[in-house]
Amino acid sequence: MLCSKRSRARRYPNEGFRHSAHLCYNHFIMEIKGLILSGGEGTRLRPITHTSAKQLVPVANRPILFYGIDALKEAGIEDIGIIVGSTEEEIRQAVGDGSSLGVRVTYIRQEAPLGLAHAVLTAEEYLGETPFVMYLGDNLIKEGIAELVKRFKEAQPDALILLAHVLEPQRFGVARLEGDRVVELIEKPKIPPSDLALVGVYMFKNVIFQAAKSIKPSWRNELEITDAIQYLIENGYQVESHIINGWWKDTGRLEDLLEANRMVLEGIEPRCSGHVDGESQVFGRVVIEEGAEVINSVIRGPAIIGKQARIVNSFIGPFTSIYYEVLVENSEIEHSIVMEKSRISHIRGRIEDSLIGKNVEIDRSPMRPKALRLMLGDNSKIGLI
Ligand code: G1P
Repeated sequence: MLCSKRSRARRYPNEGFRHSAHLCYNHFIMEIKGLILSGGEGTRLRPITHTSAKQLVPVANRPILFYGIDALKEAGIEDIGIIVGSTEEEIRQAVGDGSSLGVRVTYIRQEAPLGLAHAVLTAEEYLGETPFVMYLGDNLIKEGIAELVKRFKEAQPDALILLAHVLEPQRFGVARLEGDRVVELIEKPKIPPSDLALVGVYMFKNVIFQAAKSIKPSWRNELEITDAIQYLIENGYQVESHIINGWWKDTGRLEDLLEANRMVLEGIEPRCSGHVDGESQVFGRVVIEEGAEVINSVIRGPAIIGKQARIVNSFIGPFTSIYYEVLVENSEIEHSIVMEKSRISHIRGRIEDSLIGKNVEIDRSPMRPKALRLMLGDNSKIGLI
């Protein structure tokens, strides 16, 4: 149920807010919905995203999107709307009705990627009066959000935003604070007023719809959620912020994806559900999933070898995720993600810092004349030695 005595608190945040927070504390438990954004073009991860949704790229052998669903579920949110775009079918196939992840999913189609605030408006009917947590489907937050959702329920501000110190704030929405009060938010500023970036998790009451309807598209022709929150600030609504200390990653670029993979692998519980032969050695945190085979190879963790994968006469180095049904044969690979059903054979020199898509074949060619023979998708990147 929602708190009712809100109008004064809204206009006089400092006075009214404390009062209403006191009234609400432990008396009114709000129902909260989740809204995960899983549209977007993923241009910075091409060519992988020419054919696949960026939110389904596996980090430690789990689609990134699943970590967001887990985070919402852990915070007690089981009704989740997923905003989808052109990759709708693939997302539906991976998540289904949500029951295998313990949640109920409703798909909401956004006809064009016109911005995060536009996505919120697309979900207006689904969300109705219910406050919600908006979670960008390519974000990963190690510490989860359960504590923050609890705080949002108790204090009931109009918006609760998460911030993190970053090295390149100009790539994000950036906050200017006075004390711990947010006074300004700017999307991708050329000269950032601070190093505090907006993390892709936001909590809103439904006044955000009014805000999203009041703003104009930005220079990139998107309705920015950053501008909608700025509208709330300018109009006297209560916008709270929390600076997260643990790691957070927006996995929009290759280096961020590899870093997220590293972070998640560092925390995995070692287990072997596959087969490792007597000639092989496995060191450190390593997960070998069901049906995987390791033959005459060395695996140095943290690493994960997916279901039915085969590692033969090879070296798998730290921070590597090998997804299901991959073959690595007479090759060495480290600090990389290999997606399902790819085959890497007889490669001289070690493969590093790489993201290899689905069904990719990398092999030595016995044909004469000796030459590199490539079939690469648009925007592929190759580093030869
Ligand atoms: C979006 C938001 C930005 C936020 C970022 C977090 O950026 O517009 O404010 O800091 O997500 O991941 P985009 O991914 O659209 O560039």
